Amino acid sequence: MPADADAAADAEQAAPAPGAVRLERNAPVKFVFLGPPGAGKGTQAARMAVRFNVQHASTGDMFRKAAAAGSELGRTVKDYLDSGRLVPDELTSRVVEELVLDAGDGYILDGYPRTLGQAEALAANLERRGLRLDGVVYFDLSDQEAVRRLTGRLVCSGCGRNYHREFMPPKATDVCDDCGAALRVRSDSAEDVVRQRLAVYHEMTEPLVRYYRDRGLLENVDASAAPDDVERATGALLERLARSEGDR
Ligand code: AP5
Repeated sequence: MPADADAAADAEQAAPAPGAVRLERNAPVKFVFLGPPGAGKGTQAARMAVRFNVQHASTGDMFRKAAAAGSELGRTVKDYLDSGRLVPDELTSRVVEELVLDAGDGYILDGYPRTLGQAEALAANLERRGLRLDGVVYFDLSDQEAVRRLTGRLVCSGCGRNYHREFMPPKATDVCDDCGAALRVRSDSAEDVVRQRLAVYHEMTEPLVRYYRDRGLLENVDASAAPDDVERATGALLERLARSEGDR
């Protein structure tokens, strides 16, 4: 099945921001953000995509948009999303290839790869193109904190910006600060589904920490700090990795 146009909208490159970092590089930056659900990957990937002027490529967002649009891809993935199970590897890797890798630009992969099979598919794909990752950032957070974050998360129904009832509240109750649209709760935020997602993470995704450490690509960020502190640490790390192009 080809990836749909609905999902393609999610893969557009971020618009250049006035404060974007200028880098003297041969190739655009390519990072993977890894970590448990709720670690703040999406929050930080959105900020870093602006800072480094690259695509924020979230497989979760691509699948949710497709599901909301009721497209063929969306109908296929909806049950997986609602129950917290992983979408099959082959389909996921095909979506990423068509919507992200084929564009040939820089990106932050948020939530992909999530299994060893997906990591191998990504490695093979990059090798075919003569490319390599600049780094894999592991956002480290306890299960207890992840549950608190995910059960309090709110997402804007208009622009997709995310909030937290306690940790990152909107200025007006249930209304987006940026676009004024209503905030809603994601369908996979119920505590039983969150716990299922964490179990899937430990079984299927956590082995990637070792996989990327063995390849000299893994970098750690303490995700338990406040959002702006995590942003400062992540930004400094990405900049260092981006400037050492070719050294790794
Ligand atoms: P996806 O959307 O990727 O969900 P996830 O990885 O489970 O990640 P989350 O979005 O839940 O958390 P996050 O780490 O991005 O944290 P966030 O920034 O939102 O995937 C959803 C589903 O899609 C999967 O279950 C699966 O079915 C499918 N899927 C996706 N990718 C797939 C793949 N590769 N293969 C197969 N299936 C796939 O922050 C969480 C909350 O905390 C927010 O409320 C935020 O405001 C708050 N917050 C963020 N940072 C902080 C902080 N520093 N302090 C306090 N609060 C914070």
